[in-house]
Parts: sequence; structure tokens; C-alpha cells
Amino acid sequence: MTWEGWPDDSAGHAPAGDRLAIAPGRPLTGVLRVPGDKSISHRALLLGARATGTSVVSGLADGDDVRRTALAVRAMGAGVSVTADGTVSIDGGIGRLHEPDAPLDVGNSGTAIRLLAGWVAAYPWFVVLTGDASIASRPMDRVADPLRRMGAKVDGRDGGKLPPLAIRGGQLNGIDLRMPVASAQVKSAVLLAGLGAATPTIVREPAPTRAHTEEMLAACGADVNVSDGGRTIRVGPSVLRPFELQVPGDPSQAAFWVVAACVVPGSDIVIEGVYVGRARAAFLDVLRRMGANVEVTMRDETTADIHAAYGPLTATTVAGEEVAGLIDEIPVLAVAAVAASGVTTVRDAGELAVKESNRIATITSALGALGAHIEARPDGLVVTGLGSLDRLSGGSVEAHGDHRIAMASAVAALGAAGPTTVEGWDAVETSYPTFGAHLEALRS
Ligand code: S3P
Repeated sequence: MTWEGWPDDSAGHAPAGDRLAIAPGRPLTGVLRVPGDKSISHRALLLGARATGTSVVSGLADGDDVRRTALAVRAMGAGVSVTADGTVSIDGGIGRLHEPDAPLDVGNSGTAIRLLAGWVAAYPWFVVLTGDASIASRPMDRVADPLRRMGAKVDGRDGGKLPPLAIRGGQLNGIDLRMPVASAQVKSAVLLAGLGAATPTIVREPAPTRAHTEEMLAACGADVNVSDGGRTIRVGPSVLRPFELQVPGDPSQAAFWVVAACVVPGSDIVIEGVYVGRARAAFLDVLRRMGANVEVTMRDETTADIHAAYGPLTATTVAGEEVAGLIDEIPVLAVAAVAASGVTTVRDAGELAVKESNRIATITSALGALGAHIEARPDGLVVTGLGSLDRLSGGSVEAHGDHRIAMASAVAALGAAGPTTVEGWDAVETSYPTFGAHLEALRS
């Protein structure tokens, strides 16, 4: 996608092709920085657009998902510009913002559509949110229902449950929402709408989810209060002040390299400057339980360098409250489980079925195509470990339009006995366009 004001070479990469061929057998070594955190990047654009004045953000994630949010806030009047070094300035505030002239297209981004739904509901506008074929099948009632309770009119396909969404907002009242699913996207949508409601809004989550929205709202001077060990968040009507932010590295992207280092013999890597705050670093706990050589050195309260090296792994169980904090890492943790000795079970992870693809099905078929023994369950997976990744044959894998299935398949392929082709590789454009270049750097 092109976007005036965003230098063509800002991502420093050639477009990912539609297929990646991987010859196995080389270890990963070296020091790497992964792209800026995608969740924080979406929120930086949304809060910067709402704050009156100029916010300055460096290290913003450069994939298509975050650019869609940038384009959306720009279409509603925010100024978004990028300097040659990739620093992004966001000029925001109610004086600039207006109803968009056309539907906002979020591409493949579930975070963009759900957070934007809440963001726009605070304004007395008519807004249509649409996206690609994967977005068209992702459940939106989880945000539409609470926004309706707050007073917004939200319609969509299938009785208002599926995109495109048509939203007429404004004149909202706060609600007290006990969330049925542990979802940071739902929490964030309701909190963003709550900023513009007449009365305070309370969100109660069933398990801890990523806390970026409440943390960043507090940094912008919003009337936000967190209690009950982080599970209850109250926001009152607020005017936001602009901010400066250096986006830390994305732990969900770091997870691919950390697992790759753990499963490919001879590997030893350091990933610098990774966000490891609440509900984002649970994949490291799982790997430690599996006996992985993983060391975390904190740089500040929420950012760390992660050192990972090859070693034998043993099976584990992933279940319960832990799941919400590693839901995006399950595709690559499944690769660790394939390399481990013993049977790994993932439970309580039914949410996998409503991600960019039905990941219960796509993890099973993608890793299965390489020779893994994985059974799909309604709420997770059962992986019978091979004890070593080179017991995978390699082969041809389909990414199913899902960036994390593409990258998890690539990690599995690195340790397989034979070569692999990942079809639909260009899915990585949504979140990690430079994955292929980073792979080459770590293997050289
Ligand atoms: C995200 C929340 C999670 C996660 C997604 C990003 C966010 O989704 O899977 O990739 O930035 O809030 P859910 O809220 O649906 O669990």
C-alpha cells in the first residue's frame, strides 16, 4: 500500500514475495531488534489523534496493520507525518477531527477495526469500518454490544455481528462491563468510547490482558484508574494531552526468534529492547517450563533484552489464565512443542479459532504438512513432540493469509530435515515485512 508522507523505504525492505523457500541446517546467531510493538503502535496513533497538540512517536511498527490505523485517523482529520528517520508526528485534537468522507478500510487488522469502533463511537459521526475477507468473518458483537449499551448505533452483516460495521456515535453514557471474553481489544474499544461518554465507564476483565490502553491513557493525563490487580479499569470523560513515545520491540515478533534459537541446533541469539510488560511475556514462562535456555535482562520496568540458545525441550501444559497473555504466541509455541519430548496440551484457547485464521485448524494443518503430530481440539491443541525438530520432513505449507502461521511455519522449517516452501508468505506484510531480511541476518 502506498501512503503519501510515509517514505517508501521506511520499512527498508523489498515487498515479501508470495512464497518463501527455506533450506534448513544453519543455526541462528547474533543480535537483533524486532519491529516496534504492534499493539502499542495502534494505540499511539489513536491516542495521538485524540490528544490536542503534537505527539511524537519513534519506532512505530511498520506493517500494513498499523498503516491502516494511521490512514484511518488521517481520514478523520489527524495530521500524521513521517520524517526520514521514521519518527512519526501526530497532530490531533477535537478542533481538527471530522467525520470521514468514505469507509475506513482496516485491511487484515482486527485490532484496528475493534479499537476504531470504540474510538469513533465517541463522536457524533457516521463511520463505516471495513476490511479484507478474514476481517469479514471475525466476530464484532463483542465490541458492538457494549458500544450499543453505551448509546451508539452499530450495525453490520449477520444482524450486526460481522463487518462491515456502520457506526453512528456520540452522546454516550458510561457502562459497567463485565467482559465475557478476556480481550484487550474489547477492553480498549470500550475505554476509548468511554473517553467521550457523559459518565464514567468501568471494564472488568476475566483474566489479565495486555494493559497498553490503560497505561498509555494514564500517560496522556486521562481520568483512568486501575484496581483489582489490574483487572478493573475505570475511565472518566477526559481530554488527552500529547506525548512522546519510543515504541519498544514487539514480544510477539521476538517470540519467533526466541523459539527458533531454542529449537535449531547451534543457535544463540539476543533480541534487544523487547516489551515484557503485563500479559505479553508469558511465552517466556512457558519456554522456561519446557527447560529452554532463555535469559531475560531488564532494561527498565517493562523492556528487556532476551538471550535464547538451543537446548533440549520437554512438554508442558498451557491453560487457564495464562492463555490470554500468550494467545498470539501459540502458533510458534506449537513449534517448540513439536521439538520437545512428550505431549504438550494447549487448553482454554478457543479464541484461537477467531484470529486472522482459525488457528486451531491452521496450526494443525501447516505444521502437520511438515510432519508434526498435532490434534486439533475445540479449545486448543495436543502436540506429540518429536524430541527434535529434524524429525520433521519439511515440505509445502500454506499460510492461510495469516502472518503468524507463515512465520511459525518458517521457524519449523529452519530445523526440518528437508527444504520447505511457505506459500502465501506475503501475509507477513501485515506485521513483520522485514522477517525475511532478519532471518538472513541471523543465519549469516
Ligand atoms: C490485541 C489483542 C489480542 C491479540 C491481538 C492484539 C490488542 O486480541 O490477539 O493480536 O492489541 O489489543 P484479543 O483482544 O481479541 O484477545
